[in-house]
Amino acid sequence: MNVIHLSAECYPIAKVGGLGDVVGALPKYLNQQGINSSVVLPFYDRKFTRENEFLTVYIGTTTLGNQTYEFKILKEKTGVLGFDLFLVYIEGLLDRPEVYCYPDEREQFIAYQVSFLNWIADSDEKPDVIHCHDHHAGLVPFFVSHCAQYASIAHIPTVCTIHNGQYQGWLGWENMHLLPEFDRSKAGLLDWDRCINSLATSVKCCKKFTTVSPSYLDELSYNSNGLEGLFQMEAYKGSGIINGIDVDVWNPETDPLLGKNYSASTVVVGKKEVKKLLCKEFGLSVTKPLIVFIGRLVGEKGADLLPAIVNQTLTQLTGKVNILILGSGEPDIEHELRALVPKFKKQFNLVIGYNEELAHRMYAGADFLLMPSRIEPCGLNQLYALKYGTVPIVNSTGGLKDTVIDMDDENGYGIVLQNATVVDACYAISRAVELFSKTQRLTIIRKQMMDLNFSWNKSASQYIDLYKSLISSEYDI
Ligand code: GLC
Repeated sequence: MNVIHLSAECYPIAKVGGLGDVVGALPKYLNQQGINSSVVLPFYDRKFTRENEFLTVYIGTTTLGNQTYEFKILKEKTGVLGFDLFLVYIEGLLDRPEVYCYPDEREQFIAYQVSFLNWIADSDEKPDVIHCHDHHAGLVPFFVSHCAQYASIAHIPTVCTIHNGQYQGWLGWENMHLLPEFDRSKAGLLDWDRCINSLATSVKCCKKFTTVSPSYLDELSYNSNGLEGLFQMEAYKGSGIINGIDVDVWNPETDPLLGKNYSASTVVVGKKEVKKLLCKEFGLSVTKPLIVFIGRLVGEKGADLLPAIVNQTLTQLTGKVNILILGSGEPDIEHELRALVPKFKKQFNLVIGYNEELAHRMYAGADFLLMPSRIEPCGLNQLYALKYGTVPIVNSTGGLKDTVIDMDDENGYGIVLQNATVVDACYAISRAVELFSKTQRLTIIRKQMMDLNFSWNKSASQYIDLYKSLISSEYDI
């Protein structure tokens, strides 16, 4: 079975958030289970594309309105990622360093989707399933089914995975001329709330859609940035499959970035070593519990609560806890957090930016990871924390709810907030500080967390069952 994944991000080529991690890992694990999986990504001018060799496997043209572009499909030569990687290259449009936020993002992602289809429609080898991730590939299921020029691939089932329903790829109807010619009687499928909505279109037109956790699937029907009614109607073809983590990259026993590797049986000593270096680097105290936040500083992640959480915690628990934050995002949040660094010297520090290497060391060296997310479709950070023996402190939402059990509940190991509020977060942190003082219990919890299995193997087989359900039931993979 051949499955092609379409996505704007794929680690290590281009990662902005968890989408990149998932698309960089899932195809590899599908391949290991006998499903031939590849990824088609827009071309980005980044380290990976500069340092690896590519073969031009196809040249074609794509027309958007009255503009025609030549596109190339480049294939990574060595298979170093564990799957075939194809890049859609268009000079001046799909050849830039950043993933998002260009003023002509609309043209970029339409050109990406249309070029992919032009290539596949003309190719001898057709995939058995096209798997579209998020709204950047969301128009593909519609084009496949309702554009005469793609009749040769109209039979191929499409699957959509929603990693984040907040972003929907809205296009005003005045942009309709940028789309390939389609059956006008089907225009309603593109529409949601008098706008072309790429995510809504993908949900309506795909054969099956998935969300990255079961709880998030439920939540979308009452909280999805305007698409609630759609998710209620289409629920029958949705399912929730929790993400996994790539244990080739995220494993404290082998992680080359830590300085000291450790397993469940050596977690106490191992973590202390990594923590020592981390605390030295950031002027913190190794004997105090270390709480970290890693991620985008945006409201969805509850990051706007962080300045007040830091302030209250370090005022009320002076000298009892340290906090370290790594992330970037809304300028107001960055500014407020910066102002707290001199106020809480030796107790609080901050790195504004994206730093994959530091993130690894923080998962390993920290005692607790704070995620006060208001919305968290799956969340990978808590899974990395579990793998590294770091207790997650999470709001009870989406994938966090599905993967973290409060330590006071049966078989529990984490700390769960009932609401994403400053009060609840500060209370959770006081519970964390208390747990830190109970060394024996903390050690048991660490070992228990590290023995949990959130690797991709389990989730990949759920995707395989889904693919199989779409094609012949006796399909031989
Ligand atoms: C998005 C979601 C996050 C999820 C990730 C990968 O970034 O916000 O919760 O883990 O996608 O699916």
